[in-house]
Amino acid sequence: MKILVTGGLGYIGSHVVVDLLAKDYEVVIIDNLANASIDVLENIEKIAHKKPMFEELDVRDKAGLQSFFKKHQDITGVIHFAASKAVGESVENPLLYYENNLNSLVYLLQELEKMPQARLIFSSSCTVYGQADVLPVTEDAPVKTAESPYGNTKQIGEEIIQDVCKVRPAMKAIALRYFNPIGAHESALIGELPLGTPQNLVPYITQTAIGLREQLSVYGDDYNTADGTAVRDYIHVVDLAAAHVVALERLLKLDDAPNFETFNIGTGKGSSVLEVITTFEKVSNAPLNYKIVGRREGDITAAYANTDKAATVLGWKSKLTLEEALASSWKWEQQVRNSK
Ligand code: WQD
Repeated sequence: MKILVTGGLGYIGSHVVVDLLAKDYEVVIIDNLANASIDVLENIEKIAHKKPMFEELDVRDKAGLQSFFKKHQDITGVIHFAASKAVGESVENPLLYYENNLNSLVYLLQELEKMPQARLIFSSSCTVYGQADVLPVTEDAPVKTAESPYGNTKQIGEEIIQDVCKVRPAMKAIALRYFNPIGAHESALIGELPLGTPQNLVPYITQTAIGLREQLSVYGDDYNTADGTAVRDYIHVVDLAAAHVVALERLLKLDDAPNFETFNIGTGKGSSVLEVITTFEKVSNAPLNYKIVGRREGDITAAYANTDKAATVLGWKSKLTLEEALASSWKWEQQVRNSK
């Protein structure tokens, strides 16, 4: 079974590739290296003791993608990560996001609809819910107006896929709505490598703890939550990776699976920013330098998943704790800095 993983050298993609190789899938990665290092390929091989095929290719390169699929006609499934994903950048540069995230998806789907049978896992996000009215949020909660062009590309992406699957019975797809991915592989050989100043909380925490950043700014402590700081559902990337393989196998093995399904992939537990900080301090055994500042534009108060559907339909549940995830992030940060 040959699986294509687009963006497979990225943070989540690399963890999924490791899992696929461990389950004896043949993997081919395409990545344009815009937000990933080619060194990840070697580290995947060190972990999996197998080397996936790799082609440097931008999914927006329509002709390049066509010839790729001509060369790999034995692809049975596709996991599509390749996209830009920085919320703030998407507000500054919306067309970059609409062009990259949507054109690449359309070109990929144009190749998939030529296949006798296509199975697609799409990387989506809890951002599609905005600030849900009811928490924990279920998959049938209303999709709200996106807070950012990034979030909008995920909403539109799901709609494009759903429309295609409606009229192409040979195509089946699952959209996985990630909550907040954190953590790194236990080997500390792969993990999150933010380019420039990290936008996300956990890489900013680990870079502050290691001395790369002076101080963490906590964006607001006046939210309507237990301690006033915003609440998110932080899921270990290793648990998140496992969900991709389970979802793919549902599509590969179940002929009567619905043509399009969405699943929340989270822990089902909300943690506040201050809870993440105190848990990290326990893990790193040192106080973290932070200050409370004003809210960040576009942030919501709270988001955490109802994961019943993934549990009953996919048979998937998260296993790792916030503390384990933060410990793996810290180990990864120390390894990355020591290898610089
Ligand atoms: C988490 C919390 C911040 C940084 C976004 C996307 C989501 C996914 C993950 C791509 C919030 C607070 C953060 C900092 C802080 N993106 N924070 N100081 O915004 O929940 O989700 O990133 O896959 O789709 O929407 O994640 O890590 O940026 O923020 O106080 O320096 O930490 O205000 O409450 P977010 P985040």
